[in-house]
Amino acid sequence: MLRIENLNTHYGPSHILQGVDLQIPAGKIYAVLGRNGVGKTTTVRSIMGLVRPSSGRILLDGHDIAGWAPHRIARAGVAYVPEGRLIFPDLTVLENIRVGERHPARIWTMGRLLELFPSLRERSSNRGWQLSGGEQQMLAIARALVSDPRAVLLDEPSQGLAPLVVRELAEVIKRLCAEGVTILLIEQNMKLAEAVADELHIMVKGRIVYRAPPAVFRADEEAIRGRYLTV
Ligand SMILES: Nc1ncnc2c1ncn2[C@@H]1O[C@H](COP(=O)(O)OP(=O)(O)OP(=O)(O)O)[C@@H](O)[C@H]1O
Ligand SMILES: [Mg+2]
Repeated sequence: MLRIENLNTHYGPSHILQGVDLQIPAGKIYAVLGRNGVGKTTTVRSIMGLVRPSSGRILLDGHDIAGWAPHRIARAGVAYVPEGRLIFPDLTVLENIRVGERHPARIWTMGRLLELFPSLRERSSNRGWQLSGGEQQMLAIARALVSDPRAVLLDEPSQGLAPLVVRELAEVIKRLCAEGVTILLIEQNMKLAEAVADELHIMVKGRIVYRAPPAVFRADEEAIRGRYLTV
């Protein structure tokens, strides 16, 4: 569904993505793990059109969207939940969600979103700054869903969240997958990635160097962790 081929992205003279290859079948959850600064966020920003790749292809259902403007990529069915959430602190929960709406949602109507995120329903008229980190993360996901995306890019959603909230997040991600949404999950939290992903990928210096289903990964976890993930 989403197929990335030999993607290269530069920031000025810095060659950040050095030939990323990644293929995510429709309805699957694929996770990308990696140390700080290896290019995980640059990968999702490149897919979303927020930074222009220097070469390579990004195929969405066979159409090459590399270099398209972000609004056009969003219209094609890709949504992005940025690292750090970027909730509008002075807008209410409902207003924050409506920011993501491009036309009245058909699949993820406000009613369904508030059913998926009961904590947001209770806080619907609270402002962004009044929410906990977990509520802000759920809000960021709700804001992405209201555009009825077919694919969602989640950049480190578990960052700064308590273990109990991370478990809640895992349930939400699985529920989205059950609804047919294709998910690219960027994570540093290996437990979360292992719990939800159909396949795990590890990025090192702008390349995917390892891929395996969670069961295979788990069997070899300590060695992999030492080799690619711990500092
Ligand atoms: N706007 C930018 N201009 C120049 N260099 C950048 C820019 N954004 C990121 N970089 C550099 O690109 C490299 C990859 O950054 P990126 O944010 O993709 O890493 P990451 O894997 O998401 O890291 P983290 O785990 O810390 O989020 C880093 O060396 C970073 O300093
Ligand atoms: Mg990042």
